[in-house]
Amino acid sequence: MVLSIGSNKIRTAVFISGTGSNLKSLIKFSKTKKSPISIELIISNNSKAKGLDYAKKYNIKKKILNYKKKNLIEENLLDILKTKNINMICLAGFMKILSKNFIKNFKGKILNIHPSLLPKYKGLNAHKRVIANKEKYSGCTVHFVNARLDSGKIILQKKVKISKNETEASLAKKILVEEHKLYPKSIIKVFNL
Ligand code: GRF
Repeated sequence: MVLSIGSNKIRTAVFISGTGSNLKSLIKFSKTKKSPISIELIISNNSKAKGLDYAKKYNIKKKILNYKKKNLIEENLLDILKTKNINMICLAGFMKILSKNFIKNFKGKILNIHPSLLPKYKGLNAHKRVIANKEKYSGCTVHFVNARLDSGKIILQKKVKISKNETEASLAKKILVEEHKLYPKSIIKVFNL
């Protein structure tokens, strides 16, 4: 991605729906010297998302979206992002699908993390399907977001070995540890740092 960083960091919004452990790792990363991004806004479609607590803890602005009227929501959201001069979006456990039009407005500037070795196991319940299929490996992927679900260009992946008695929960936990390292690494890669 070619973006001029200048002396300022790239103003980034993180979109979440739940626990926000990836959000937390991104916030921590953003505060390091080597980070090209600063996190200026947290967006959630879920007012009860636990990850929203990080807004208060780290003094970051937050916005909660009411997804009942999708078009209106996205128009509103685009306005908010523009007003706050947001130049980059990191999806981190965000459970809503963004429209083609929205993505067009942030072309090449939206990243997502997915808990599988894409292109395998796109969509929901990846760990469950991986276990059911008796895979030997799974992992996580950071990729650019395009109009097709979990299909944009891959930035980085991390493979993990599936243990003998692996459960959906143990696999999720194991992969999450890797996700927290892979997302920052991928951001560094995107900006060629
Ligand atoms: C992660 O496994 C992420 O890959 C997936 O949803 C989960 C979100 O976890 N898309 P958290 O909210 O970041 O803790």
